[in-house]
Order: sequence, then structure tokens, then C-alpha cells
Amino acid sequence: MGLSYKMRLLILALGIGIATTGGLFIKSLLKPESFGVYGPYRAAAIDEEAQIPIRHATNVSCYSCHPYEAKIHKAGLHKTISCEFCHGPWADHVAGSKKVGTLPVKKDGEITTLCLRCHNTEITARPHEVIKTVAMPGHLESQKVKLTHNCNQCHHVHAPLKYINRAKQITESAEKAL
Ligand code: HEC
Ligand code: HEC
Ligand code: HEC
Ligand code: HEC
Repeated sequence: MGLSYKMRLLILALGIGIATTGGLFIKSLLKPESFGVYGPYRAAAIDEEAQIPIRHATNVSCYSCHPYEAKIHKAGLHKTISCEFCHGPWADHVAGSKKVGTLPVKKDGEITTLCLRCHNTEITARPHEVIKTVAMPGHLESQKVKLTHNCNQCHHVHAPLKYINRAKQITESAEKAL
């Protein structure tokens, strides 16, 4: 083709111009309304987030109605663990300082599954120095009890070492009786 050097440059410049204008136009169509009001994000997102109803409260929100559990929990090695981690969200249970729904309470084998979510040696991402872990069934074998035992048969769920000496006495005396 016999296009001159200048002509080619012009076509190139025109092409870039059309692509840029088109791009900016499409961007303006896609840009959410409140984008950029405070910074490079949607300003409306803040209000939307604030509208989401609160599902979880702190342990303190449980204490007034459950003083018995609270006292044991606060005194034991599980004091830093959220009640709701094991029982589910506050909002399913309480509204306007009244009980409005039932929270799940784990039983038997479900309790063991729950404990092992944090205390299983196989979770190598949690080093033993940070959280004490046990290997199963080794932990039960070393206590010489049946492997059908669940964790709460020796550990109080709310304060895991509360009755541990009593549990030891029972397993040890059972051993001696053999
Ligand atoms: C590590 C998990 C865990 C944590 C943390 C925990 N709980 Fe529990 N809780 C349980 C389990 C499991 C049971 C059932 C115990 C059983 O059957 O031996 C239970 C039982 C209960 C019960 C009795 C339910 C019933 O009707 O039988 C109440 C009430 C309760 N917990 C409240 C609380 C409160 C309040 C907190 C925080 C201060 C809390 N729990 C923290 C695991 C936990
Ligand atoms: C406004 C009072 C109130 C508050 C706050 C409250 N509870 Fe309860 N909860 C009750 C009552 C009443 C019961 C039924 C009687 C009982 O077990 O003591 C109950 C029962 C439970 C049970 C047994 C299962 C059930 O739902 O009946 C669990 C588990 C429980 N609560 C956990 C919690 C946790 C965890 C919190 C904090 C997030 C909490 N509760 C906050 C009043 C409350
Ligand atoms: C959300 C994670 C979590 C769950 C679920 C949990 N624990 Fe714990 N547990 C901890 C943390 C954190 C500690 C304190 C750090 C430590 O000592 O390992 C602890 C401490 C303990 C200890 C004392 C360890 C020591 O220092 O000698 C025992 C025993 C224990 N838990 C048993 C249980 C049992 C039994 C269950 C099930 C009812 C359970 N844990 C559920 C996190 C958890
Ligand atoms: C037959 C009783 C018994 C049962 C069942 C039992 N434990 Fe233990 N556990 C003990 C005793 C006793 C100790 C304390 C050992 C010691 O003296 O150091 C202990 C210690 C622990 C420790 C601390 C380990 C450490 O390195 O200090 C954790 C974590 C633990 N148990 C978790 C569990 C979990 C999770 C379950 C259920 C899967 C469970 N245990 C079931 C008796 C039991």
C-alpha cells in the first residue's frame, strides 16, 4: 500500500484516541455512583455494611443470664475462647435482652469433634507451644480407657482442667483394680 508515513501515524493516533475515549465511556457507565467520594472505593459500601444486623456479641453478653457457666469459664484455661464458637451466634438466641431462640448444645461424639477442631495434633498449622494438641487415639490409649470415651468425660468443656485430677484418680484406680 502506498500510505505515507504521516498517514500511518494519523491512523495509529486515531485508533488510540477511539480506544481511549471508548474505554473511558464504558468505565463511566460501570463506575458505581458513590465511587471515589472518600477514596478509591464505594462510599455507599460503608452504609451498606453498617446496615447488616449484628449476629455475634462478646462473651460479656452471655454472662448476665448464665452466671454459673460464666464463673467456671472465666476461671479456666478456656477463658479466651468465645462462647459463640461452641454454641453459635448470639442473634439466634437473644433479642432485646430476652431469650428468643435455642442454641445448639453439642452432645457425646459431637463434643469430641468440636474439641479436635482446635486440639488435634494433625493440624500442623497450630504449633504445640501455641495451643496444646493431642494425637488420637493415642491420648486415650495413654489413659488406658476405652477409645469410645469422649473428651468431656475427663475435661470440663468450660474449664478443661477443672476436674482433671479427679479424672486421673478414677482412671488410675481403675488401672490398679485390673
Ligand atoms: C469449648 C467449647 C465451649 C465453650 C467455649 C463454651 N461452651 Fe457452653 N457448652 C459446651 C458443650 C460441649 C456443652 C454441653 C456439655 C455437656 O453435655 O457435657 C455446653 C453446655 C452449656 C450450657 C448448658 C446447656 C444445656 O442446656 O445443657 C450452657 C448454658 C452453656 N454451655 C453456656 C456457655 C456460655 C455462656 C459460655 C461462655 C461463657 C460457654 N458456654 C462456652 C461447649 C462450650
Ligand atoms: C437474656 C438472657 C440470655 C442471654 C443474654 C443469653 N442467654 Fe443463653 N439462655 C437463656 C435462657 C433463659 C436459657 C434457657 C434456660 C437455661 O438453660 O438456663 C438459655 C439457654 C442457653 C443454652 C442451652 C440451649 C438453649 O438455647 O436453650 C445455651 C447453650 C446458651 N443459652 C448459651 C448462651 C450464649 C453462648 C450466650 C451469649 C452469646 C447466651 N446464652 C446469652 C438466656 C440467655
Ligand atoms: C476454639 C478453639 C478451642 C476449642 C473448640 C477447644 N479448645 Fe481447649 N483450649 C483452647 C485454647 C486456646 C486453650 C489455651 C491454650 C492452651 O493451653 O493450649 C485451650 C486449653 C485446653 C486445655 C488445657 C491445656 C493445657 O494448657 O494444659 C485442655 C485440656 C483443653 N483445652 C481441652 C479441650 C476440650 C476437651 C475441648 C472440647 C470440649 C476443647 N478444649 C475445645 C482452644 C480450644
Ligand atoms: C480418660 C480421660 C481423658 C479423656 C477422655 C481425654 N483426656 Fe485430655 N487429658 C487427660 C489428662 C489426665 C490430661 C493431663 C495429662 C497430664 O497430666 O499432663 C489430659 C491433657 C489434655 C491436653 C493437654 C495436653 C498437653 O500437652 O498438656 C489436651 C489438649 C487434651 N487433654 C485434650 C483432650 C481432647 C481434645 C480430648 C478428646 C478428643 C481428650 N483430651 C480426652 C485425660 C483425658
